[in-house]
Amino acid sequence: MTSDTPLEVLGGISARVFLRDYWQKKPLLIRQALPGFQSPVTADELAGLSLEEEVESRLVLEHGDRPWELRRGPFTEETYGQLPERDWTLLVQAVDQLIPEVADLARHFRFLPSWRIDDVMISFATPGGGVGPHFDNYDVFLLQAEGRRRWKIGQLCDSESALLEHGDLKILADFRQADEWVLEPGDMLYLPPRVAHYGIAEDACMTYSVGFRAPSAAEVLTHFTDFLAQFLPDEERYGDADLEPAKDPHQIQADALRRLKGLLDEHMGDERLLLTWFGQFMTEPRYPERVAGGEIEEGDLFEALGDGAVLVRNPSARLAWSEVDIGLLLFASGQSTLLPVHLRELLKLVCAADALHQDNLQAWLADEDGRTLLVQLVKQGSLEFADE
Ligand code: SIN
Ligand code: CO
Repeated sequence: MTSDTPLEVLGGISARVFLRDYWQKKPLLIRQALPGFQSPVTADELAGLSLEEEVESRLVLEHGDRPWELRRGPFTEETYGQLPERDWTLLVQAVDQLIPEVADLARHFRFLPSWRIDDVMISFATPGGGVGPHFDNYDVFLLQAEGRRRWKIGQLCDSESALLEHGDLKILADFRQADEWVLEPGDMLYLPPRVAHYGIAEDACMTYSVGFRAPSAAEVLTHFTDFLAQFLPDEERYGDADLEPAKDPHQIQADALRRLKGLLDEHMGDERLLLTWFGQFMTEPRYPERVAGGEIEEGDLFEALGDGAVLVRNPSARLAWSEVDIGLLLFASGQSTLLPVHLRELLKLVCAADALHQDNLQAWLADEDGRTLLVQLVKQGSLEFADE
């Protein structure tokens, strides 16, 4: 399969055409992107997840204590007993980290960098339910999983767009409708960032949001400079050994600005450090406490693999790799490791693998660097033993 192969999940256009014409540019409605799609999660199971302490969930009631009331989970059985018949939505974040069949959806999006994917959120809505007209700063694929939902899309928004007075939810005060469709199970709607949208359940329905992440410019600057600062000794300062006699000692002259720009360029322009920071930042887990790891003896790990054990990526871990002038970088859940180039295929396997076992690891089990890496990833919690 090449990037020019027509993809059913994109409605018969290729990844190349999608990226050229739609990605980050304009919405795309894809009828029967996943024909016959059946939700691996039922509404009851979703509600069950929202009772759990460690699961991030919300309820939005259009006519609650106030219009568009937001409640945050965990909820209780009683919460559900007291909800009205209609006009509410339950949203559960990162279900892909909890249910492998949901995580499996990521395979349809392999034409995009995996480190851009944030999570799969699942919403269940009773008839009339929705979260109001709003916009997100992220790309999203909205897959209709069960029942029907009417999606209205509107204008392109930004931080100046007027919002309703609402402490919790960012609901647009003004929604200018441009298009409207009713999505059936298997249909999917791609929305680029900042397009106003408003989904209303026609009947009880479930929608999967495959959401993407992108750091804001402000985040890039603050986080990268914090990262850089750790490597800079206190004695490294603004210097003006080339100072000329001042015409007016109170004036900050252009030469001071030039020296300052030189100082910034010298550090901000370090591509290896920029890449290291970016890889670490983009692989930071959404829930770090779920990537705990633990102690394991090297001998025990390889003995277990020899006995048929299988290693898989911790569903809450994020992995990516890259190449620099002096070797390869593996990013695992916010940490980076510089590795020799001969480990390239192992890195690819680790990042892509759903399963690592004696057979596909064979070549690496005799390699000192390969073994060290596997032990490190298990200790760090990015890889773990699959349940039997
Ligand atoms: C929903 O699934 O109800 C909301 C998803 C969204 O609008 O981002
Ligand atoms: Co949205």
